[in-house]
Amino acid sequence: MATSDQSAVYIDEDVGKDDFSAAGTQQAPYKTLLYAHIQHPPSEGQQYLTRKSETGPVSEDGDPAARLEWKVATKSALKKVGNLYEQHKKKVAKSDELAIREKQEAGKRQQALELAKEIRIGQDSSLPKAIKIRLDEKDPKVIKLRSGTSKDDIDYEEGRGSRVRVTGRVHRLRSQKDVIFATLQDGYGFLQCVFTGNLVKTYDAMTLTLETSIEVYGEMWEVPPKQHAPDDRELHADYFEVIGKAAGDKEAITSRVAPDSDPQTLYDNRHLVLRGENSSSVMKVRAAVLRAFRQTYEETTPSCLEVTPPCMVQTQVEGGATLFAFDYYGEKAFLTQSSQLYLETCLPSLGNVFCVAPSFRAEKSLTRRHLSEYTHIEAELDFISFEDLLVHLELVMSRVVEIALSHAQTAKLINELNPDFKVPERPFTRMRYSAAIDWLRAHDIPNEDGKPHTFGDDIAEAAERKMTDIINRPIFLTHFPVEIKAFYMKKDPEDPRVTESVDCLMPGVGEIVGGSMRMDDYEELMAAYEREGIDPAPYYWYTDQRKYGTSPHGGYGLGLERFLAWLCGRYTVRECCLYPRFTGRCTP
Ligand code: 4AD
Repeated sequence: MATSDQSAVYIDEDVGKDDFSAAGTQQAPYKTLLYAHIQHPPSEGQQYLTRKSETGPVSEDGDPAARLEWKVATKSALKKVGNLYEQHKKKVAKSDELAIREKQEAGKRQQALELAKEIRIGQDSSLPKAIKIRLDEKDPKVIKLRSGTSKDDIDYEEGRGSRVRVTGRVHRLRSQKDVIFATLQDGYGFLQCVFTGNLVKTYDAMTLTLETSIEVYGEMWEVPPKQHAPDDRELHADYFEVIGKAAGDKEAITSRVAPDSDPQTLYDNRHLVLRGENSSSVMKVRAAVLRAFRQTYEETTPSCLEVTPPCMVQTQVEGGATLFAFDYYGEKAFLTQSSQLYLETCLPSLGNVFCVAPSFRAEKSLTRRHLSEYTHIEAELDFISFEDLLVHLELVMSRVVEIALSHAQTAKLINELNPDFKVPERPFTRMRYSAAIDWLRAHDIPNEDGKPHTFGDDIAEAAERKMTDIINRPIFLTHFPVEIKAFYMKKDPEDPRVTESVDCLMPGVGEIVGGSMRMDDYEELMAAYEREGIDPAPYYWYTDQRKYGTSPHGGYGLGLERFLAWLCGRYTVRECCLYPRFTGRCTP
């Protein structure tokens, strides 16, 4: 039994606390012997009294009050804690030392920064006038590269590089004692700039941050052997000016977005993510693909004319479940799901047409290939057969890929984003819906209810993707049953259970195109409205096409983001548009 005195410290391993609420007294004991040592280092006469008030041993007569007795810590416990305490002291000493060093260094840096503010740099008027170039300018008539390894004087006799002026943002930054390497990006290209001499001693150079916008003057050099820089060249700066400083430290772009940030943070900061190489490459491929589609539609025979249908509509195309409704001057209206019905009305006077327009779908499913707003490339062709439609579609898709890859810069981007991309072989595999059902059954891929697929089932996304990935080449899936397709699709004259419809499936993504022949018979269309419970009144303008010189015609819609996810090997369509809109996200 221990006696309490002033130099005693109390430890209750059950209810004690190792924090500011404890004082090492009987009323407020500590929890561990180590913490007690830290708060009250061992000294002459210092006693450590311990107990386990709730789990300690009870006395022989079974009285739990024995647990409340304070006992002097055992020698072995003191020895063990003594070692831990020594380790703790060393750690504290080390971190104190580090803190002092850091403070000294911060002080030194502050001093250096103050001195740096005094350093002025200026343009050297004896140098040739700098020519303004974009960072992708590589024309040897415009830019001569100086070769060699000397970093010294810059003069511009024969054999010296061109003096240029560039603007951009710091995309990569490597600062060493006497030299700073900053790779600029301007949206067109990348250029490594090398700062030396007085330039690195300025306040702006010492505080340079990623994304700072800057103007740099200097001489163009070849990159020294064995060193790497974009386009194997670098700009040796003789003067620079900061145009817009970018935030640093906690607000630095790398703190706001990192490759391993959680997806929501990345979507919230999409404006910053877009500055990254992957995202901007996808946007550049996107632009090239759009150009390629337009070129292809111009080239096809007969060519297709671009039209721009409205996005605010009062009719549905692909079923009421995915309509976004809004109030239009007191009337109910929708954001368009597809421009198809409008394209059909253009055929008589414009011939074949296409459009590139947003489509909107209030998709309930949050999948990697569904957006609430996507870019829809749709085409409508007049006086054709279903076979004509398939041939045209195959041609358009192949030609777009061909044009994109024939553009060297786009081909390079696609290769960097998706090194495994293979140009699809023609003809695309054709498979009737009924054969796909057999295939799914044979491969034990169940339907959404976990049962074997049967004729009439909607082939769900997961099953469709599995099938496409196993077959691993583009598939035209055709002749879907009437019940699972839109009201306007023409029935197959050979088998009225199915429609003349096609989905184009691509490995990795699944369906990227949906198309069909359209019902061209007035009575048949009226019956289809009725079957689907659609009031024909607001569709009078669509129905009229069957009243005023009907024709066999068909078309399709291609989701641009899905096409890009396939071409660029992206995991989700959300990476293939500027600011993705999907369930729960309409910002930034
Ligand atoms: O199969 P869908 O719904 O067909 C139509 O809208 C037809 N009216 C088109 C036409 O014949 N003119 O959609 C066509 C394509 C799909 O294959 C897919 O690529 C894309 O549009 N799509 C979506 N893309 C992203 N997010 C969504 N929620 C999409 N819904 C369809």
